[in-house]
Amino acid sequence: MNILILGSGGREHALTWAVKQNPKCDKLIVAPGNAGIAQIAECADLDILDGGAVARFSEEEAIDFVIVGPEAPLAEGVADRLREAGILVFGPSKDAARLEASKSFTKEICDAANAPTAGYGHFTDAEAAKAHVRENGAPIVVKADGLAAGKGVIVAMDEQTALDAIDDMFGGAFGGAGAEVVIEEFMEGEEASLFVLVDGEDVLSIGTAQDHKRVGEGDTGLNTGGMGAYSPAPVLSAEIEAKAMEEIVKPTMKAMADRGMPYQGVLYAGLMIKDDQPRLVEYNVRFGDPECQVLMMRLGGQVLDLLQATAEGRLKDAQVNWADDHAITVVMAANGYPGSYEKGTEIKGLDALPEDSENMAFHAGTKAEDGKVLATGGRVLNITARGDNLQEARDRAYAMVDQIDWPEGFVRRDIGWRAL
Ligand code: AMP
Ligand code: GLY
Repeated sequence: MNILILGSGGREHALTWAVKQNPKCDKLIVAPGNAGIAQIAECADLDILDGGAVARFSEEEAIDFVIVGPEAPLAEGVADRLREAGILVFGPSKDAARLEASKSFTKEICDAANAPTAGYGHFTDAEAAKAHVRENGAPIVVKADGLAAGKGVIVAMDEQTALDAIDDMFGGAFGGAGAEVVIEEFMEGEEASLFVLVDGEDVLSIGTAQDHKRVGEGDTGLNTGGMGAYSPAPVLSAEIEAKAMEEIVKPTMKAMADRGMPYQGVLYAGLMIKDDQPRLVEYNVRFGDPECQVLMMRLGGQVLDLLQATAEGRLKDAQVNWADDHAITVVMAANGYPGSYEKGTEIKGLDALPEDSENMAFHAGTKAEDGKVLATGGRVLNITARGDNLQEARDRAYAMVDQIDWPEGFVRRDIGWRAL
């Protein structure tokens, strides 16, 4: 099978690594890829937001299956364009991708499905939004309706912060994404994520994870795309996971199908758990990054069969083979991230790292130049390890981190603390 994976982050390196382990995988191309991906697959320079270009490239390269990593091409309708061209693709349609691209759409679907989530109001003008905040008081959560690269959510602990956030959003701080605003009840509890495959009809859980969103140790400081993650998430017990499936995932997926927009791909359910009751915080229409890295480490080569079964509508008969293991990933980021940081600094020591089914240094923001590996992004490496328990996995991951020579980068030393 000839496979094309779209994306260039640590998530896509992990997907590539897992897919490549499956004996069914013949040609493997990643667009655009990065320096780590280039070591295990062919990289192609392609505008992945241009569905026509992706379809043409797939035809030229005799691609049998396209796996879409990030949300942006999905929100642009790249999966629809590929399906029109008769190419098998893993990832939801543009309509179904609204589950991530529009917060108000997701709330509507939750209402239709009677799925537990935060109470909310949806506003298209600032004064009405502010009146809602004054009526309900703080803490309260203000969200730009559209895609805002993870920055469109303000958890306001006081009223003034919420009112300022409304002004910012309607003032254009998030461009078109902030032209509509959702204001939510603040939910207390512990957050965890559930990842499920959905083939339009059937759903299959492929694991749970927790990430660390804050830049600083003890979960303090600014929000980031994620500084580390681990799987499984102990807070998502089998019982709570079953509740989340029955009360949230299955009814919302049925509501999508009922609306004529069946969902196909991976669904990432961000959950808030309190008193053994899960409530939906958000849906994403892709694997989490860096959550994908720990899931791929645990699933390995079978992931290709699972993604193919999803795309072909055969999940009913699919099964996940679980090992009773744990995985963790530690993000190495450029000094200064999530603020401004230097680009082009050299990373040494990667060649000496172990690369096997228990240890992998996934690349997130790197490029190769003159035989050197250079940092090109904020989040740069995802040092990932697996073990019989979380402590063992964590010790392995930090042992690798300590072998990397990159003075211009940093890690959080406490990934997994909540679970340990
Ligand atoms: P989102 O982009 O919707 O996942 O929001 C980003 C983060 O904001 C979440 O991971 C939560 O930590 C927090 N958050 C979002 N909505 C709520 C809510 N209704 N109550 C409490 N925290 C929230
Ligand atoms: N790690 C959070 C996300 O992928 O959205």
